[in-house]
Amino acid sequence: MCGIVGYIGKQKASPILLEGLKRLEYRGYDSAGLTVHQNARLETVKKTGRVDHLVRAVDGQSLSGRLGISHTRWATHGSVTDANAHPHLSSDGRISIVHNGVIENHRNIKRFLVAQGYSFCSETDSEVLANLISYHYEKETARDQTRFVESVRKALKHIEGTFGIAVLCAECPDQLLGARRGSPLIVGIGDGEYLLASDVAAVISRTQNVVYLKDNEIVALCPDNFSISTINLEDVDPIVSRIDWSIDEVELGAHPHFMEKEIFEQPTALENSMRGRFAADGSTANFGGLNLSPQEWRQVDRLLFCACGTAWHACLVAEYLIERYARIPVEVEYASEFRYRNAPLEKNTLVFVISQSGETIDTLAALREAQRKGFRTLAITNVVGSTIAREADGGIYQHVGPEIGVASTKAFTSQILLSAMVALYLGRLRDMSYTDGVGLAEALKGVPALVDRILRENGHIQEIARRYSGYEDMLFLGRQSMFPIALEGALKLKEISYIHAEGYPAAEMKHGPIALISDRCPSVFLAPQTETFHKVLANIQEIKARNGKVIAVASESAPFPEGLADDRIVLPDAHEALHPILATIPVQLLSYYIAVERGLDVDKPRNLAKSVTVE
Ligand code: M6R
Repeated sequence: MCGIVGYIGKQKASPILLEGLKRLEYRGYDSAGLTVHQNARLETVKKTGRVDHLVRAVDGQSLSGRLGISHTRWATHGSVTDANAHPHLSSDGRISIVHNGVIENHRNIKRFLVAQGYSFCSETDSEVLANLISYHYEKETARDQTRFVESVRKALKHIEGTFGIAVLCAECPDQLLGARRGSPLIVGIGDGEYLLASDVAAVISRTQNVVYLKDNEIVALCPDNFSISTINLEDVDPIVSRIDWSIDEVELGAHPHFMEKEIFEQPTALENSMRGRFAADGSTANFGGLNLSPQEWRQVDRLLFCACGTAWHACLVAEYLIERYARIPVEVEYASEFRYRNAPLEKNTLVFVISQSGETIDTLAALREAQRKGFRTLAITNVVGSTIAREADGGIYQHVGPEIGVASTKAFTSQILLSAMVALYLGRLRDMSYTDGVGLAEALKGVPALVDRILRENGHIQEIARRYSGYEDMLFLGRQSMFPIALEGALKLKEISYIHAEGYPAAEMKHGPIALISDRCPSVFLAPQTETFHKVLANIQEIKARNGKVIAVASESAPFPEGLADDRIVLPDAHEALHPILATIPVQLLSYYIAVERGLDVDKPRNLAKSVTVE
């Protein structure tokens, strides 16, 4: 949440900051702003609305400085106004700060600073930190380069809460400072320049070499060098990593929206998630980073999966797959609940977290809570070097490339695919036969081609979406592993189309939701060919008897009665383990086309941000 970009180097800072902000806009889009250091002054421009508003506001201003910071905001403290937009200046005009996170003790600090004569012009917690740094700068006895960094260090020692910050000082024309606790921040090492950013998308056009800051680290960037230390004054040896994403992956290309691009990238993304991960004998999966021997896996009696949002739906699918194919009991918890619930866990439980970004604060907190209790933790994440990837005891990278659309698509299907591969791996360590292992592995290898087929044959889904785009309520229904896909279909529709939608196990419908059915509330049934197929047909009939419209997503050769559904979307026949991935594609397309039909901003739905790094 919130995107930060900072620059120090030989180029004019403002165009580089604006380009970086555009690439980070998916992290928040309530307002945007920048400060450029020039002529011993901090020139600040900020505006509510999208980065494009800021671009227009900056246009025509002579911002020639080569040092600057910038921010795109997802509002936490204070409404969406120009005054609450970042950067925030200390009241003496000396310090400018951009901040991602929440300063929990900001009220007490503000009271103290007001008593010291500092004034405030926003409702934000972040302005408090700008003034606190200025207060310590004033009091600092050092008069050399260390004065600025020491004042930041001292200020941060008083902060309770989370922060990723970039800071400028009017009196320090050669210093850009950054620090983090709980909110991500990376250093991009360019050719004669350095960047600070919330994630790699902002720096990728200028460098592929980055340093991932850890919690409680402060980085001091000068034009020719940089150093990292901790808030407690320990020096840190920076580890430079190479980003394996390319610039094309963060650009739209010929697509109107990132969501469409990412839906259509799924065959390749799924191929990349699987690459090199099947054993030579073809009967099981191989994962390099789980850091557990087969003997240690045999000691695991139970798995607990934690995540948020779409990733939580992937956990529910994992539960079906792992219990079915590996016969290991699985529990699924919302990370935000697990972290405070103090659930009693059995001794030989292994905790798995799933997070595309690897930065979701609740998922990270759940991971830490599990580790604190002494449980071994594993993570499925997409972003290399993310906090969750670094802190888990082992894990699996998804390798689907950057996901920019706020609505998660390719990350979700990849999380399901990797869960199926974990099920295969664990099944083969237990009771799955060689032949069944080969059968499941072969089926999984075929998933990219099947997804590709659904995408190529999707024309009529657009037409169906057009006809259903005017409804304000919708139900998504499915049994067994289709239940999480029903939840995911409803979430997708809600978040990008603003249509009220709910997902239910199809059999639960009769216990309440059926009261919603009328000609104004259509249902999407996820009904591939399984042992419960005929039960689902009966549920469809119950809806039809009450004048409800039905879109059925069903397998090609399933005996689906002619005329039972109002609209039918066909899935290729496939191994049952593949149904969750295959059924996801039509629901993604349906919500995408409905949102487009309603003229909505698909990639930046209202009130949302891609990565939820505040509680
Ligand atoms: O980065 P994560 O996978 O941890 O994100 C979890 C959720 O915030 C995310 O899936 C969210 O629900 C998406 N907007 C869904 O499309």
